Amino acid sequence: MSRILITSALPYINGVKHLGNLVGSMLPADVHARFRRMQGHDVLFLCATDESGSTTEIAALQEGLSAEEFCAKWHDLQKGHYERFALSFDHFGRSSSAQNRKLTQAMAQTLWEHGFLEERSTKQVYSRADKRFLPDRFVIGTCPHCGYENARGDQCENCTRVLDPPDLINPRSAISGSTDLEIRESVHLFLRQAMFADKLRAWIGSKNDWPQLVTSIALKWLDEGLQDRGITRDVDWGVPVNAEHWGANPEGRKPNAEALKGKVFYVWFDAPIEYIGATWEWADARAQKQNRPRADNADWERWWRAPGADDVTYVQFMGKDNVPFHTVGFPVTLFGLNERLDAAGKFTNANEPKWKLVDRLKGFNWLNYYGGKFSTSQKRGVFVDTALEIQPADVWRWRLMANAPEGADSAFTWEDFQTGVNSDLANVLGNFVNRITRFGAARFDAKVPAGGAPGAAEEKLFTEIDQRLAALTAFHEQMEFRKAAAETRALWVAGNEYLQVAAPWTAIKTDLDAAAVGVRTGLNLCVLFARIAAPFMPATAGTILAAFGLGAEALAWPNRPAREILDALAHGKPFTPPDVLFKKIEDSDVSVWKERFGGEASQAEAEHAT
Ligand code: 2FM
Ligand code: ZN
Repeated sequence: MSRILITSALPYINGVKHLGNLVGSMLPADVHARFRRMQGHDVLFLCATDESGSTTEIAALQEGLSAEEFCAKWHDLQKGHYERFALSFDHFGRSSSAQNRKLTQAMAQTLWEHGFLEERSTKQVYSRADKRFLPDRFVIGTCPHCGYENARGDQCENCTRVLDPPDLINPRSAISGSTDLEIRESVHLFLRQAMFADKLRAWIGSKNDWPQLVTSIALKWLDEGLQDRGITRDVDWGVPVNAEHWGANPEGRKPNAEALKGKVFYVWFDAPIEYIGATWEWADARAQKQNRPRADNADWERWWRAPGADDVTYVQFMGKDNVPFHTVGFPVTLFGLNERLDAAGKFTNANEPKWKLVDRLKGFNWLNYYGGKFSTSQKRGVFVDTALEIQPADVWRWRLMANAPEGADSAFTWEDFQTGVNSDLANVLGNFVNRITRFGAARFDAKVPAGGAPGAAEEKLFTEIDQRLAALTAFHEQMEFRKAAAETRALWVAGNEYLQVAAPWTAIKTDLDAAAVGVRTGLNLCVLFARIAAPFMPATAGTILAAFGLGAEALAWPNRPAREILDALAHGKPFTPPDVLFKKIEDSDVSVWKERFGGEASQAEAEHAT
């Protein structure tokens, strides 16, 4: 048993997430967390809402709420969505928590004192009408590259070029529409990332088990030349910069606290720190359950700081757009805490307990909706709240993971959803459990039969199950989710094929013992199938186990020989056939859902969707 820390990329606070967001990080992270818990590991699985930044300010303005109110409302809504999707977070925190604020401020202070932050004067757009600086998305204007008139200050939606707000032609404020804008100088803090390029390259080079997708994105950033990164912004909502409390840097200089007053940290600085913040929140919540007012630092530091965290394996899940921030941005923050510059400007050990960096990083491609993107703004595609109005969470969890955008982008279509659900769940798993439990109940008094001994059909089955279980375990350990789902299905299929051969319904006419072995093996297969389904479909697994009077204690990952697994239920143990596990999806359902959620997008819609 070892300790495994698992984090999923933090969903932005604004709005309901779509299925692409879910399958790109939170859902696979949950499947892995469940699998690792079943193996008996000590798992800590964390996530949180990502709340800082100008996007939140804009969204709150549009809803007529303060940023605080907006975040409180959406945090609770999102938490509810993920609970209904059975995401088994040990804690679902908030990047605006007091714990994250303290960590973010303390880390920035340390980075300054270690010599890795620099003050630089930058040019920002200031709106006289709004009496404020307008960061990125608050400025709208004409794209200098393609002439699109509604380009945002950070990126042109039309030609996708990355922009700086001062690049825009005829700029105007997104808040008031005012064109009374000027460029003003504003001092900001920059993280000196460039000097970490060699360390990053060596560190990434040591990660032999990272997927190619992840390594190639990380190295591309390094190859393009690592830039220092502004980590503060002129907005109101976020973690305040508290430079007035900071000490001197290695050159003996204190920050210009006056110039930095009123600024906040950039959302991508404080968001990953919330992985640690969420651990602290989790520890505080646990302390309170134990009637302690708050956690000791040691309670959460044992997951994050040497030497206590040396035995922890840290696994991160995210979509591909997040990879640079997790392979470059956040690691530089942690490198900068673990080391310092000496007076001669050379790296030296910081002599403080080291922070833990990610060990294994799983990145995902995009899940598209038909040929185009899921679109939050155009409400195109399926969202986590409405998805559950038409199918149970387990069905979504299975189908999304079986079709996860792992090696390449993948597409969601209703036709494919229907085929996948019917063939994997209704026809294979559901049919198997239904058929054998009903027959066993009718002909063996709803008790696990005792007679007979395994014969040739069972021996063949044992060999196949042993091989397939070993493969399935390896796929889960390697976080190869599509392969794990395919192997899970192959095990269910092997069970169906075995029942075809053993045919207890025929055997019972001539050989009661042979029928008893067939039924007993079939019933034990039901329990095995529930256990291997559990990481993907926890509720279904619970339903099948409950049919045999088994609870969560039975949810250990199968690691015994098939010969033992398939004779584990006590002979004579009573069972109750469960109700039909999965309802077939009809063509008429597909028509209704296509109408409701939209089907094929036009090319133009697909290109403009965000
Ligand atoms: O892309 C996103 O949805 C970001 N909110 C992910 C943040 S991950 C982490 F670093 F916080
Ligand atoms: Zn453009």
